[in-house]
Amino acid sequence: MRTFPPLEIERLVTLDRRRAVAAAAVMPQLEGCGRRDGPSSRSRPDQKERAELAARVLVATWREAGLAGCARKLRAAVWMGLPVLVAGRRTAQSVGAYFDLITDDGRLFYGDSFHLGYFPHGDESLREALDAHTDLVAEMARVKAAGRVLDVGCGIAAPALRIARRYGCRVTGVNISREQVRQGRELIAARGLSARVTIQRGDARALEFPDGSFDAIVCVEAAGDICVSEHDKDRLVGELFRLLRPGGHVGFSDLVLRTCPLPAEDRALRAVLYHSGAELLTDWPAIFARHDFRVVECRDIITATLPTWEHARAVYERHDGKVTRRYGRRLVQRILAHLELIPGVLAARGSFPVLCAQKPAAAEGSPRPPHAVRQTPLSSHGGKEAT
Ligand SMILES: C[S@@+](CC[C@H](N)C(=O)[O-])C[C@H]1O[C@@H](n2cnc3c(N)ncnc32)[C@H](O)[C@@H]1O
Repeated sequence: MRTFPPLEIERLVTLDRRRAVAAAAVMPQLEGCGRRDGPSSRSRPDQKERAELAARVLVATWREAGLAGCARKLRAAVWMGLPVLVAGRRTAQSVGAYFDLITDDGRLFYGDSFHLGYFPHGDESLREALDAHTDLVAEMARVKAAGRVLDVGCGIAAPALRIARRYGCRVTGVNISREQVRQGRELIAARGLSARVTIQRGDARALEFPDGSFDAIVCVEAAGDICVSEHDKDRLVGELFRLLRPGGHVGFSDLVLRTCPLPAEDRALRAVLYHSGAELLTDWPAIFARHDFRVVECRDIITATLPTWEHARAVYERHDGKVTRRYGRRLVQRILAHLELIPGVLAARGSFPVLCAQKPAAAEGSPRPPHAVRQTPLSSHGGKEAT
């Protein structure tokens, strides 16, 4: 899951309601999203609560990682908060800082994968479902036949390690979060796969690899985090096109919304996912198609991801004492309330496209400049089988 546990760490900094308004302004289709609950009407967490959470997180970090750990968290909190305070929106750096901040807690309660589980039968364990999600995206990327694989927004390399082990390929992971790169390197070394899996710091919207460097690319539930503006969605897909060899495939998954959430639903989504609802309204198959990819296959797995939320609640309940000591009873109750609300919101409004996009064999290595990209209306393909 992108940000488990939903410890509302963003309460450490000012929440950014204006992101939704900005997104709505650049996308006429989103008219109304985020506006029903404008900046002035938003209920801000009170200072006392924010200070209490900050203190609790710091105490827990002090116990587990000492002074160096606290310094890392404080630095991340500042980097995460500054752009929001100064410019009123998140930036790629602030998203990186956000992941710096939540990674320890995510691993503690949820494991090494930072995505939702895929439960095709419904009775899988959480761990099986997390792996099944990685496997599905790898299948979409046709990784079996690939030698060099790129994992864009790779977390701490858990999916990259699984793919390298299953298929025997080399995987390069890129991630903007310093802390995830650091922990990813440790994990790769601990699993003894340093010869075939590497992870490096980089911004997925502009990477330094030469054109056509990879036979296959995977992007597991990271695009919504990578794209901090509407324009970024084209930048990201253009970059995937450039980096892929002609004839190669991208395997891609991400959570999207089909319709705007209500203000209360939006608050729960923001607290857990670090996104406003408006930012999640995306028609990925259409964006791939307008960048000259051939969308070979697209499935909507939203229903098969929903059991994840029940598992997340169960984790909280199982570790009740530990979680409460860490975050405080009031916060835990709010988190549980969000976890109860979100599956219903996603069942009604969500979609989870998992797609296979092929770069035509004859395509040039460079993408067309953004101004030459055709505009495709939102939701022309969303959540449907494309072929
Ligand atoms: C929801 S997590 C998914 C991680 C991983 N794919 C997994 O499934 O475990 C999103 C990831 O995207 C990374 N990310 C966010 N913005 C990025 C950017 N601009 N460039 C590269 N990585 C980015 C985050 O640091 C995080 O690791």
